[in-house]
Amino acid sequence: MMRVLVIGNGGREHALAWKLSASRQVEQVFVAPGNAGTSLEPGVENLPIPPDDTDALINAVQTRGIDLTVVGPEAPLVDGIVDRFQDAGLACFGPCAGPAQLEGSKSFTKAFLDRHAIPTASWQVFSDPDAARQHIEDHNTPLVLKADGLAAGKGVIIAKNREEALAAVDEILVDQRFGGAGRRLVIEEFLEGEEISFICVAAGAEVLPLATSQDHKAREAGDRGPNTGGMGAYSPAPRVDAQLHQRIMDEVIHPTVQGLVKEGMPYLGFLYAGLMIDHHGNPRVLEYNCRFGDPETQPILMRMRSDLAQLCQAALNGRLEQFEIEWDARFALGVVMVSDGYPGDYRRGDKISGLDQVRSDNVKVFHAGTRQEAGQVVTDGGRVLCITALGDTVDAAQRQAYSAVSGIDWDGADWRPDIGWRALHG
Ligand code: AMP
Ligand code: GLY
Repeated sequence: MMRVLVIGNGGREHALAWKLSASRQVEQVFVAPGNAGTSLEPGVENLPIPPDDTDALINAVQTRGIDLTVVGPEAPLVDGIVDRFQDAGLACFGPCAGPAQLEGSKSFTKAFLDRHAIPTASWQVFSDPDAARQHIEDHNTPLVLKADGLAAGKGVIIAKNREEALAAVDEILVDQRFGGAGRRLVIEEFLEGEEISFICVAAGAEVLPLATSQDHKAREAGDRGPNTGGMGAYSPAPRVDAQLHQRIMDEVIHPTVQGLVKEGMPYLGFLYAGLMIDHHGNPRVLEYNCRFGDPETQPILMRMRSDLAQLCQAALNGRLEQFEIEWDARFALGVVMVSDGYPGDYRRGDKISGLDQVRSDNVKVFHAGTRQEAGQVVTDGGRVLCITALGDTVDAAQRQAYSAVSGIDWDGADWRPDIGWRALHG
């Protein structure tokens, strides 16, 4: 029997811990630091260790006899937590710092994509504001301006006109609003089309795609309002038919993992490609993430019938492509409930009611920004819960999810009312 540690405290980590705890090979799951949802999950225990305290995490793994660690968020991966675990002889599921640059540095990724002829928007990188301004004068808008490093999902500005583009140069390069992440600025061509998430498990040149999914990044209904970490997701994504799936594997995923192997930094872990599909069905890479998506993890794992602990071990032991992942044929849809104000400022500490009303086997409440206070669950973040439901159709999953959402409340609860609209209306 195995003991497993999940690092992180979001909805993705609650889903990972829930799924790992269902493994017949797993006797105990720890989450560091976790949230109220993981602390209430049977077979799961929170450890109060922050994800960036690698020494304390290694110590906990050694003293508790933990056999496998799964890293949820990008920051520790980009900082090299897997390298540190490997040096200590510990099994850790996630990429080393080298390949994690796919998320940690946009200019690294763009140059990598060009080296391997993987389709992406044309781009240039700048550290001199005047050179960036000149580039803007010489190009048509819209343009997309990105802080090079990790910026907690906030370092991308889509400039509709020159004024906005010039303001973004000041914000990123001059005022350093994203700190060191903005020492360099990537300016790229604006791509039109439909955005999809394509998530795999990779182990060197071996790669296994997970079920397809689609996120909803805009804050408001109809894909309006500011960009967020994700307001809801569903799986599968009907947009990704067999032909598009094959093209993504051939033109994007295989060349990426093979390119990393050739460059001496084989990838191990979840690999997330954010893709723009144009009107002709051509996929192009918008970004890579070196981790599972949040909230995509929640609907995808609701549909996974296979044993996640065995899948991670197959990848770690070089047997990934012999593993077959079995999926529930049903549709899964997750609605993220947020605190009023998100993605801007919001309040914490509001008591959440109605959590125990959800009893169906086909609905799961994954926690994100929650904590326990005096025996009650209170809000502790912008994205608070992800209510995820299975249904025979998109419509049925959507109805189930929203019916559960309507029974849960706190002062300032909000959500998008239209998760799944693309799947419903094509
Ligand atoms: P990223 O973190 O690079 O994925 O950027 C965040 C979001 O900005 C993406 O999810 C897209 O919605 C949008 N985006 C990024 N790059 C582009 C681009 N070149 N063209 C259009 N939209 C983009
Ligand atoms: N849902 C988008 C992300 O995980 O980056």
